[in-house]
Amino acid sequence: MIGIVSHLDDLHAVHVRRHLEQAGSAHLVLDTSSLPVQVGLTTSEVPGAGWHGWWEHDGVPVDLRDVHAMWWRRPQPFVLDGAITDAHDRAFARGECAAMVAGLWHCLDAEWVNDPDRDEAASRKMWQLRVASELGLRVPRTCMTNDPARALGFIESEPGSVVFKSFSASEVTWRETRLVRDEHRELFDRVRLAPVIFQECIPGGFDIRVTIVGDEVFSAEIRSGESSYDLDFRVDTENAPIEVHPLPEPVEGRLVRMMRRLGLRYGAIDLRRAPDGDYVFLEVNPAGQWLFIELATGQPISSALARLLGYLDEKMTARTGRRAGTSTPPHQQPFHRERRTTQIGGPRRA
Ligand SMILES: Nc1ncnc2c1ncn2[C@@H]1O[C@H](COP(=O)(O)OP(=O)(O)OP(=O)(O)O)[C@@H](O)[C@H]1O
Ligand SMILES: [Mg+2]
Repeated sequence: MIGIVSHLDDLHAVHVRRHLEQAGSAHLVLDTSSLPVQVGLTTSEVPGAGWHGWWEHDGVPVDLRDVHAMWWRRPQPFVLDGAITDAHDRAFARGECAAMVAGLWHCLDAEWVNDPDRDEAASRKMWQLRVASELGLRVPRTCMTNDPARALGFIESEPGSVVFKSFSASEVTWRETRLVRDEHRELFDRVRLAPVIFQECIPGGFDIRVTIVGDEVFSAEIRSGESSYDLDFRVDTENAPIEVHPLPEPVEGRLVRMMRRLGLRYGAIDLRRAPDGDYVFLEVNPAGQWLFIELATGQPISSALARLLGYLDEKMTARTGRRAGTSTPPHQQPFHRERRTTQIGGPRRA
C-alpha cells in the first residue's frame, strides 16, 4: 500500500491518486491534521511479535505494516485548537504528537518520496547551492548574511545588479525576488535581525523549471520576460508562456547527480538562463508544485510520480512479503470494527 502524507483537498495529490486508482494501486491519505482528535494512532513493540502500527480514522483501522511506499507531500500541523485551551498544555500535546509520528515514519517498512529527513536537509538553500556548485553547475554569486556591512560590501563588489530574497516564506511573509535599489540602503540595519540572501542578478527573464521524478526529467521554460514581472516567474505566471525545453545533457546529468547527493527522489528545480545561454541553478524544491507545468506542457509528471510510488511499493512488498490486507490474522489486530473506505483509495486487494 502507498501512504500519502497530505490532505484530501491537495490538488497535486488528487491527480496522483487518480493515476494510482487507474493502476489499481491501493493507497491511503495520512492527514496529520486529523491527529490527534480524529485519528487513533497505535503502535506496539512486543518481543517475538515485532513492531505493529495502526492508523484508525473513522472506524477504519489500517495496518501500517502494509505501507511500503510513502509520499511526503504536504504534512499538516496537528490540530488541537478547541480540544485544549491552555497554550502550554497544547504545546506539550502537539510535541507529543510530533514525537510519536516522527518515530512512526522511521518504523515503516517503506521507501520514501522523499524521506522527511532528507527533504528537510535538502530544502536548505545554502547547502543546495554548495552541492550544485561542487557538481559543476553554475550558481549565482551569493552572499547570505545578517551583517549589514558585509551585505553592502557584497553589493558594491558586484559588477551588475543584485537581487535579494528570503530563506523561507509563509502566506503572510511571501515576497517576490527584488532588485536592490538605492532606496533600500536605509533599511540595511534590519539585515542584522533577519538574515537575507543577496545574489548576482541573472537578467533576461528566462526561467527553467526542471521536475525530476526518479530517473525521469521534465524540463520546461517559463518566459517571465514576456510577463509583467521579468524578475520572478511566480508573480505573473499566467502571462509567462510555458513550453517544453530540452536541457543540454551535461546540465541534466549534473542535476540528476545533485538529486542523488541530496537524497531526493522528487524535486522541482528552478534554473535561470543567463543572456550568454548558460544555465544557472537557483534552487530545488523537494516538494515543489508541478501541475502548472503539466497543464501548460502536457508533460506527464503526475503519472510519473504515481508510477514511481507504485514501483517502490511493489519492490518493498516483494522484499517484506506483506501485501495490503492479506497477512494480519484478525485476532492479532487490536481493532475488529467493520471496515469502511473513507480515506483509502484504490481497489482493495484480496
Ligand atoms: N539571482 C537571481 N537573478 C534573477 N532572478 C532570480 C534570482 N533568484 C531568483 N530569481 C527569480 O525569483 C524566483 C524565485 O526565486 P527562488 O526560486 O530562488 O526562491 P524561492 O523564493 O524559494 O522560490 P520558491 O517559491 O520556488 O521556493 C526564481 O524562480 C526566479 O524567477
Ligand atoms: Mg523557486
